[in-house]
Amino acid sequence: MDFVKVISKGDLPAGSMKTFMVGNKPVAIANVDGEYFAVSDICTHEHCSLGTEGFLDGSVITCGCHGGQFDVTTGKVLALPPPADVSSYEVKVEGDDVLIKM
Ligand code: FES
Repeated sequence: MDFVKVISKGDLPAGSMKTFMVGNKPVAIANVDGEYFAVSDICTHEHCSLGTEGFLDGSVITCGCHGGQFDVTTGKVLALPPPADVSSYEVKVEGDDVLIKM
């Protein structure tokens, strides 16, 4: 497992979230007040894209399909219906680069 550069800091303004492909895996990356977090992009309920169809409010992702919620800092479910947490990935910032451990 290595850190891979996925985006530059400027690619994701504070308060925003987006889906990026890391290798062949879609990852939702969020900028929460200048801190970056990464979780699996695929909702554990019916596999909607969290980064594309979801909404970020503070550190809470709300899935756009059925309103399930996850904590983007841990991947933990905060509100049903998702039956399981999403994977959470370690993130580090080096200069202008945001790297994710995959
Ligand atoms: S697919 Fe995300 S809550 Fe249903």
